[in-house]
Amino acid sequence: MMEQLESVRKQFLTDLESFPETPQEIDELRSKYLGRKGQVSALFALLGKATPEERPTLGKDLNILKQDLTNQFEEKVASVSASQQSAEDDAIDLTLPGKTPRIGSVHILEQTLSEIKDIFKSIGYHVAYGPEVDDDYHNFSALNIPEHHPARDMQDTFFVDPTTVLRTHTSNVQIHLMENEDPPIRYIVPGRVYRNEAIGYKSYCLFHQVEGIYINEKVSFAELKGCLEYFVRQMFGLNKKMRFRPSYFPFTEPSAEVDLWDDERHQWMEILGCGMVDPAVLDTVGYDSKKWHGYAFGMGVERIAMLKYKINDIRLFYNGDVRFLEQFS
Ligand code: DAH
Repeated sequence: MMEQLESVRKQFLTDLESFPETPQEIDELRSKYLGRKGQVSALFALLGKATPEERPTLGKDLNILKQDLTNQFEEKVASVSASQQSAEDDAIDLTLPGKTPRIGSVHILEQTLSEIKDIFKSIGYHVAYGPEVDDDYHNFSALNIPEHHPARDMQDTFFVDPTTVLRTHTSNVQIHLMENEDPPIRYIVPGRVYRNEAIGYKSYCLFHQVEGIYINEKVSFAELKGCLEYFVRQMFGLNKKMRFRPSYFPFTEPSAEVDLWDDERHQWMEILGCGMVDPAVLDTVGYDSKKWHGYAFGMGVERIAMLKYKINDIRLFYNGDVRFLEQFS
């Protein structure tokens, strides 16, 4: 009897070792040993044949066996189902679409700047850069805007200290270029400028300009007009409505502004100031104003981009909203 008991235990352990994986096989194993007609029940049936002396120990041993087998069986079931679960968790679903990384793009302002640079480079302009933090002299005085002159109020200025400013325009670089190089010169100067003005749909505290300066022995206003018209035609096409309007700047004489027709708002939008470089500016940098003449212009890059790409608010360039930026990738 005891031998039968041990052989059932042994057999059970072997079966448990080569343990089945499907729920069906697990159930089969359960009923083979622990079921109503299983091997353990069969042993209990034999109890009736044992002698009254044997019976109590044998009964106790059988109960222990049953409990043992049940425990081991349940442990195995639990560990098998846990490992199946983790295999499922690790599984890679090859049918899922891949994650597409978000692709960045060149900012629309930078794209516009590139277009502007390319147009001017194609007609002989070099590209130069200059300081964004500059002294009062280069931003104002040397451009014929003396201290206490009302012309200073044309641009609301951020002061770093009483004689240092965040440049209010790229015109400061006209002075740096002429100080460093003898005429003739022909440059465009792209860059950031800063103004402490009321913020609105077409004005922001920070924006970009492209300055232009051309100095030579014979330069006419007609050439200035031709150059800027060429630029507008290249940038906007032949049908863009543009106009020159007389204006005033301390550093040019005569001065003008160029407006483009805003198709969205049905009104003119100013995009640049220009004029013939004032002889006083040439004298200040040491160019002989009897011999040398020139023209200059300064254009607002944001406004050009707004007109070209139908962007209705300058602040969109600066708030970093990818939904806006993605439209231009
Ligand atoms: N600096 C002027 C501004 O920011 C624009 C300008 C006007 C630039 C006439 C020029 C110029 O070079 O000749 O309002």
